[in-house]
Amino acid sequence: MIANPNVDRTAPYADGRRETILSGSAFEIARREIRSWPGFAETALRSLPTLAAETGVGALYYKDEGSRFGLGSFKALGGAYAVLRLLQKIVGKATGETPGSADFMAGSHADLRAGVTVTCATDGNHGRSVAWGAQNFGCRCVIYVHETVSQGRVDAIARFGAEVRRVAGNYDDAVRRASADAAAHGWHVLSDTSYEGYVDVPRDVMQGYALMVDEALAAMPAPPSHVFVQGGVGGLAAAVCATLWERFGAARPICVVVEPDAADCLCRSAAAGHPVAVEGALDTIMAGLACGEVSLLAWDILSPGADAFMAIPDDAAAQAMRLLADTVPPVIAGESAVAGLAGLRALRDDAEARRLLGLGDDSVVLLFGTEGATDPDVYRAIVGRSAEALLA
Ligand SMILES: Cc1ncc(COP(=O)(O)O)c(C=O)c1O
Repeated sequence: MIANPNVDRTAPYADGRRETILSGSAFEIARREIRSWPGFAETALRSLPTLAAETGVGALYYKDEGSRFGLGSFKALGGAYAVLRLLQKIVGKATGETPGSADFMAGSHADLRAGVTVTCATDGNHGRSVAWGAQNFGCRCVIYVHETVSQGRVDAIARFGAEVRRVAGNYDDAVRRASADAAAHGWHVLSDTSYEGYVDVPRDVMQGYALMVDEALAAMPAPPSHVFVQGGVGGLAAAVCATLWERFGAARPICVVVEPDAADCLCRSAAAGHPVAVEGALDTIMAGLACGEVSLLAWDILSPGADAFMAIPDDAAAQAMRLLADTVPPVIAGESAVAGLAGLRALRDDAEARRLLGLGDDSVVLLFGTEGATDPDVYRAIVGRSAEALLA
């Protein structure tokens, strides 16, 4: 574990810049829109007393995103919201009006929307959300996947009417192809990560994620003392950290960010004090967390806001998936859903880390179970049973 040397717990959330990235007021708009979408339902917050005892904390809560909009992951909140926001801007510019989700779904400005194409590269969950958003809000969608993305994940995207294009090479090759094709055809790239000069879309994506945090806090008897949240590019962790920081200020829960040891760009960036990229295969079962570069907007929040960073091996994630599957009733958690639990378990016997984080038997820990069995074959191979068999 790396205690974040740059964390500043006394700084106010609103520093003139942070609230332009994520804020309670922008969240209110996102919340109103997302809650109006067809099939909206809050996801469950599970209390896990046996695992709390096993990890030496007082209480453990798991926000189970497996059922979100029937898409299998919390990502349903982000990419689809970015589609809506983009279409609102395009229609607003052309007509001076700002229709909401309900107006679009009732057919408002359908001709304008039909001329828009959105695109992104994905290893599964984000692309599924963008495709679903495009289908709901009536625009065209082309999604790029790299060669090792499973056919199951491709099919799950194509189900929402998107054209899925497979690209030779890795995720970064798919990103480059999406961006080159978008530039050539006048399409709109809806990426969940931000880089120099590209901030509006990832900000909207992250603002959508904040709904999950809001729901979790509302369902808890009292705010958590600690949050263990997984990191890919850091957008999810930043949405969690920002929401807690803005609401609770210096008294916010301790925030620990956990990522795969094969893709530990957040840990390395924390140690260096600035974004550091990880090269290479980024080979991990935690497909949604296999990211080599941090999102710049996320980093602006996590660098001063997160208390610690951790990296965990694949077998710790696999064990956490099996433990959750064995819970009564079972919790179906995909490979990228469990890094928080795996991180907490890794600290069980680490007295120094527990002291630094103030983690003990009176702690109340919140985890975000960000996906269900989004790749059923991989899930069965790791857990030994299918999600359907476990729930039967
Ligand atoms: C299931 C799941 N959990 C967590 C994450 C991590 O989110 P972020 O890349 O914003 O850190 C992802 C990203 O794709 C994901 O699919």
